[in-house]
Amino acid sequence: MGEILLQIDGREVKVEEGMTILEAAQSTGINIPTLCYHEKLEPYGACRICTVEVETGGRTNLVAACLYPVQENLVVMTRSEKVDKIRKMLLELMIAHAPEAGALQELAQEYGANKDRFEKEPSFCILCGLCVRYCAEVKKKNAVGFVDRGGRREVIFIPEIAAKECWNCKECFPLCPTEALQAGYLLTEALAFPSGNR
Ligand code: FES
Repeated sequence: MGEILLQIDGREVKVEEGMTILEAAQSTGINIPTLCYHEKLEPYGACRICTVEVETGGRTNLVAACLYPVQENLVVMTRSEKVDKIRKMLLELMIAHAPEAGALQELAQEYGANKDRFEKEPSFCILCGLCVRYCAEVKKKNAVGFVDRGGRREVIFIPEIAAKECWNCKECFPLCPTEALQAGYLLTEALAFPSGNR
């Protein structure tokens, strides 16, 4: 594979062709926040907190750094007024779902997000899908899944699989950016009420 020369935050960097902007930034010690990214998983692009500004051919665009491949002479800004504004808004929305989440609180402080801007709907889940994807892609068990769509979308443990696989695994718990204990609660609930009668 060849090498690509691009600019990130004013620095010329040389990285491997095929990398994403996120991987390129990480390889040169530049931090871009992520909530749904995991190096062992296929990129998912759900949380958009990794949004950066890129310039190609005189045009600027906002893109998800965890999905966007590097290109020769690409100019990337990991912080800008637009980037910070988007991250702030995303954090205000996410923190309404998981007000106690340490990772969100830290980012909210960094980006000046108002934790009370939106009415609290504490589902304790920001639908990053890390647990679902890790269980499917790494463990190949599919014991955790999404149900419903839109505003009703949520993550559940599949009782029949969870009863056999989860208690001795729990590898998805520490991946959760909101509250690992919530995963414990959901798992217990799935095992205690396998037919969904809560
Ligand atoms: Fe890129 Fe979530 S980390 S969209």
